[in-house]
Amino acid sequence: MTTITPSPLSAKIFDQIAAAVTEGLTSDPKWLPSWLFYDAAGSRLFDQITDLPEYYVTRTERGILAEQAEEIIAQAARGPALRLVELGAGSADKTRLLLAAAVDRQDTVFYEPVDVSATALVEAQNRIEREIPGVLVCPRVMDYTKGLELDPCLPGEHRLVLYIGSSIGNFEPKEAKRLLENVRAALDPGDCLLLGIDLVKGEQTLLDAYDDAAGVTAAFNRNVLTRLNKELDADFDLNAFQHCAWWNPAESRMEMHLQSRVEQTVWLAALDQRVNFDAGETIHTENSYKYRPGQAEALLAESGFHPETTWTDERGWFAVCIGRAR
Ligand code: TRP
Repeated sequence: MTTITPSPLSAKIFDQIAAAVTEGLTSDPKWLPSWLFYDAAGSRLFDQITDLPEYYVTRTERGILAEQAEEIIAQAARGPALRLVELGAGSADKTRLLLAAAVDRQDTVFYEPVDVSATALVEAQNRIEREIPGVLVCPRVMDYTKGLELDPCLPGEHRLVLYIGSSIGNFEPKEAKRLLENVRAALDPGDCLLLGIDLVKGEQTLLDAYDDAAGVTAAFNRNVLTRLNKELDADFDLNAFQHCAWWNPAESRMEMHLQSRVEQTVWLAALDQRVNFDAGETIHTENSYKYRPGQAEALLAESGFHPETTWTDERGWFAVCIGRAR
């Protein structure tokens, strides 16, 4: 006979999922929290999204960082040595450009990637220490949306915090400000924040980026239901829900939804709960806010930073801004 005892960690995750799903699916309109996307399968799908021809976001930001890495590091360092901190590091792919530029200026660079996923951090640490000698990785498993605690700097050193990938765009403007205020509270005056923000552009470009021809984004969105089937013993029929992405001009955001194709009832056994859907009813799964030129700088200024420089690509699709903690 085998008995399966859930570890305290998985019990805690189960409780979090159960609470969030109960709240979201009993609300009107229905919603699910976007952190549910990033289980192992979802993280793999998101990596595939970043390579899609339609998903300009990652490529455009990488282009800016590749061109400006030296300048960004020089401006942030302004004399003293730098240590790099990255929020939501994930696989830390684009960060390499900045780490390489930092190692060119100083022999040893401390790099503190912060992420909720310990596995992503271990992979990033192994890869970076192998590929960029001179970088010392100190991973921090932490949910930075709940506040931030950083190691004190060495004398004569200050920080450059990276918050790239337009992750800030997944927060409502008020929450975005609160998040950056928390970051500021963890920093010393003179430390810098590098913010990568996606900008408003032609609607069709946005629609394609969030609903690609190969269907990877649709699979990524629907993976949330697969996850609920597995973790909450639910019976979502994946074919009965459709990925929808639309532009909400009043809120300046892309919205991602899962739309029920028919009237149906879903059973979530682990929650002992039934959820009814009308035909066409949606579950709101994500927002991706798009900023106008100047708004990123305003956000930095409101959150305790002095905005110093903004770099964009030729098409003006994406902005990378640096702000200094006041
Ligand atoms: N941070 C990404 C973005 O807003 C997340 C993302 C990309 C996403 N494609 C998606 C979220 C599709 C939900 C559905 O650009």
